[in-house]
Amino acid sequence: MLKSFVFLFMLSLLSLSIDAILNYQRHNCSNTMTFTPNSTFQANLNLALSFLSSNATHNNIGFYNATAGHDPPDVAYANFLCRGNLVSQVCQECVMNASKMIVHKCPNNKAAMIVYDECTLRYSNRSFFSIVEEEPVIAGCNVENVMQTDPDGFMQFVGDTMRNLAIGATSDHSPGKKFAAKKASGVHSVKALYSVAQCTPDLSVDDCKDCLVNATDLLLSQCRGKIGGRVVLLSCNVRYELYPFYDNAAASSRGKDEWINDSLLGSFVFLQH
Ligand SMILES: *[C@@H]1O[C@H](CO)[C@@H](O)[C@H](O)[C@H]1NC(C)=O
Ligand SMILES: *[C@@H]1O[C@H](CO)[C@@H](O)[C@H](O)[C@H]1NC(C)=O
Ligand SMILES: *[C@@H]1O[C@H](CO)[C@@H](O)[C@H](O)[C@H]1NC(C)=O
Ligand SMILES: *[C@@H]1O[C@H](CO)[C@@H](O)[C@H](O)[C@H]1NC(C)=O
Ligand SMILES: *[C@@H]1O[C@H](CO)[C@@H](O)[C@H](O)[C@H]1NC(C)=O
Ligand SMILES: *[C@@H]1O[C@H](CO)[C@@H](O)[C@H](O)[C@H]1NC(C)=O
Ligand SMILES: *[C@@H]1O[C@H](CO)[C@@H](O)[C@H](O)[C@H]1NC(C)=O
Ligand SMILES: *[C@@H]1O[C@H](CO)[C@@H](O)[C@H](O)[C@H]1NC(C)=O
Repeated sequence: MLKSFVFLFMLSLLSLSIDAILNYQRHNCSNTMTFTPNSTFQANLNLALSFLSSNATHNNIGFYNATAGHDPPDVAYANFLCRGNLVSQVCQECVMNASKMIVHKCPNNKAAMIVYDECTLRYSNRSFFSIVEEEPVIAGCNVENVMQTDPDGFMQFVGDTMRNLAIGATSDHSPGKKFAAKKASGVHSVKALYSVAQCTPDLSVDDCKDCLVNATDLLLSQCRGKIGGRVVLLSCNVRYELYPFYDNAAASSRGKDEWINDSLLGSFVFLQH
């Protein structure tokens, strides 16, 4: 256990010197909708993904939607959303990695989504821009239980925090962002609760609010009594932890945190829809 931790830690230091650490989480492929190799759709998909990667190099861009092709049914739609407080370079690396990885993981699917801690990328043969969509859902909880006798009280605290964050995210007027992050201290015997809520910035304020309410409901029901959890819907996401997972501080400490908590990935579940 210790040995493998030391190994992973050294591995993380190693990759750290090469590039920022990305924490891939999950993907979902539309298994029932496939395209034939070398089709027009595939060419358009590759083009749309390259638009995402090239546009992610723009400074301070955290979201982009791209379309390739003109004639249905061969048009490909794609977008990415980086965590709202991510530094540009990491966002860019995440989008580049995701656009390659998604093709690798979902080699001939007409729609797919891939989720990292740092960004989410999705594409489809159907336009989904500015539309509130929830499926598929990717939800995950930290396996560890909160150390207290009142898990419901703790979840209530998480819920209240999330509702506050939703207000923050919907009233975020910085360009291209609907994002809020918060450290809440000293309640329910936890030292601090760190949380984020985010919508794709193309949503209206009301749609963003609705989406976050739904995501929070799911989070509270799925992760009752757990020290951390997240729900990633297509148009919004929420997450809480007892450590500053959204901290953009030195990549070294971020990498270390994430390695420790990577062991919890086994608890990720796909909710059936
Ligand atoms: C993707 O999600 C669908 C439901 O939305 C599910 O049936 C399917 O198993 C998931 N696929 C993968 C690869 O996780
Ligand atoms: C697709 O095109 C590549 C080269 O452009 C070719 O090598 C490959 O055999 C083609 N695949 C199919 C299924 O036609
Ligand atoms: C960004 O995407 C658009 C299409 O959405 C494309 O025309 C452009 O070349 C891309 N790259 C850059 C660097 O803007
Ligand atoms: C992005 O989506 C908006 C709709 O929200 C649309 O008006 C715009 O044309 C899209 N941009 C691209 C490059 O597809
Ligand atoms: C997307 O592809 C699926 C499966 O091939 C097809 O049934 C559907 O009509 C397509 N959607 C659009 C908008 O072209
Ligand atoms: C994407 O990241 C993974 C690890 O997170 C790495 O193994 C892979 O080489 C990266 N791929 C690209 C294309 O950068
Ligand atoms: C929220 O969930 C409800 C009930 O499942 C659903 O009817 C509604 O469309 C969802 N709202 C949004 C914005 O997705
Ligand atoms: C990672 O998760 C564990 C719970 O399994 C938690 O105790 C720990 O504080 C987290 N790691 C860091 C670096 O915060």
